[in-house]
Amino acid sequence: MKYPVARVESRTSIQEAIRTVERSPFDRAFVVDPAGVYLGCVTIADLRRLLISGARGEEPVEAYPPRHVHKLTAELLEGRELDERMMSGMELEGVRYLPVVDAEGKIADVVSLEELERRYGLRPAAVGDGPGRRVLVVGGAGYLGSVLARKLLSRGFRVRILDSFIYGHRSLQPLAEDRGLEIVEGDLRHIPTMVATLADVDAVVLLAAIVGDPASKVRPIETFETNVLAAQALASAARLQQVGRFLYASTCSVYGVGSALLDEEAPLNPVSLYARSKIETEKIILGMGGEYFSPTILRMGTLYGLSPRMRFDLVVNTMSMKSFVDGRIQVFGGGQWRPLLGVEDAAEVYARCLEADLGKVGNQVFNVGSDAQNYRIEEVAGIISTALGGIPIHRDHSNLDARDYRVSFAKLSETLGFRPGQTIADAARAIVASLRSGDIRNPAQRIYYNHFFDSTEE
Ligand SMILES: NC(=O)c1ccc[n+]([C@@H]2O[C@H](COP(=O)([O-])OP(=O)(O)OC[C@H]3O[C@@H](n4cnc5c(N)ncnc54)[C@H](O)[C@@H]3O)[C@@H](O)[C@H]2O)c1
Repeated sequence: MKYPVARVESRTSIQEAIRTVERSPFDRAFVVDPAGVYLGCVTIADLRRLLISGARGEEPVEAYPPRHVHKLTAELLEGRELDERMMSGMELEGVRYLPVVDAEGKIADVVSLEELERRYGLRPAAVGDGPGRRVLVVGGAGYLGSVLARKLLSRGFRVRILDSFIYGHRSLQPLAEDRGLEIVEGDLRHIPTMVATLADVDAVVLLAAIVGDPASKVRPIETFETNVLAAQALASAARLQQVGRFLYASTCSVYGVGSALLDEEAPLNPVSLYARSKIETEKIILGMGGEYFSPTILRMGTLYGLSPRMRFDLVVNTMSMKSFVDGRIQVFGGGQWRPLLGVEDAAEVYARCLEADLGKVGNQVFNVGSDAQNYRIEEVAGIISTALGGIPIHRDHSNLDARDYRVSFAKLSETLGFRPGQTIADAARAIVASLRSGDIRNPAQRIYYNHFFDSTEE
């Protein structure tokens, strides 16, 4: 059928019906009895609501009569006598397609509301929202999240953000009027808030965490609560409601130290509480994976580049900022390897994972970065120095950071065809330009540093 609405037979299980709708381009299905008679329309959100309200996934859809029963007949269309109340009701329920049933009540045709107007001169009050998938981005106000939110909106996703705004509200303020975006200010650790924000979503991206070794060190309890316990609760709730697509932000820091090129199978060697919290959660979430819940673990390299929530505690960003402020770059150690990745590129990987066939990316771990962007820290300093016109480099041989690893990104490039678009040199120039222009006025402000920040100030 050329129309995007899926059909499910009334004896189909709830979990299979969710899967059918998930694979179709639209967010609902027409339910028919075994003889093909139209019974009504269910949305994927209706089906998920059944699960969280106690229904078992194996129960047939027919055990719960559909709430939406609008239908058309040939006579009704010819007579052009659609009830006005029905038309406005459809708008409220987000209906875009209606079945036209024959004398036996079977679906003979499907018309869109636009066609009703074009073909029959019937004017629906308005057309509901498009079939854009709704993604819950937890931590969407952060360094990566505020870039990702913009990218997803530009790709036609509807986005709901849950964030406690530890680092302020500025990053999302310019998006306040965007109709595709919904912002919930709340804490992932609060179960009722978390469950409420999951309603009606088709996919989850979990970014919220206490991020970075130094930040976790100063806030160990919050790290355990957010990075482990709350992450686990969110994944459980998503699995229960069969939100099958779940992207979890992990880090290449899980490898800690390693001399070979490390792929996803390499042993993990955490050297911080932060990395340990990420490994613990990876294990928990992957352990929940299966046919109806297919998480994707994304182990990212260290990110760089401008973001609406800027961080100056990431190596490329720090060196670029110091070049401008102090006129020199300080390198600690320098021989240690680190995979790097532009923040826009990282967001691109998330968007592709949300768009990809779930069979390809679900129940998988990916290193996220590119082989060409494994650098020694001293090389990074050299690139930034050159890009900014020859900034002097000062070496301090004490190395405070124990991490030293090179990572293979072959699996990601083979599966998603990902190639990075950003470079360190361009990012360094862009950061300095925004400091010079005053877009970022005072890079010493505490909100730019995860480990300094105390959530009571802004
Ligand atoms: N930035 C990197 O270099 C990098 C590298 C690898 C992995 N990661 C991972 O990517 C994710 C995003 O990192 P980022 O750099 O954007 O960090 P960030 O600190 O800028 O963003 C984290 C966001 O989560 C929110 N948050 C924290 N605790 C919360 C809670 N309990 N409830 C609701 N919201 C909460 C914060 O307010 C913030 O907006 C993290 O999971 C991080 O571990 C980041």
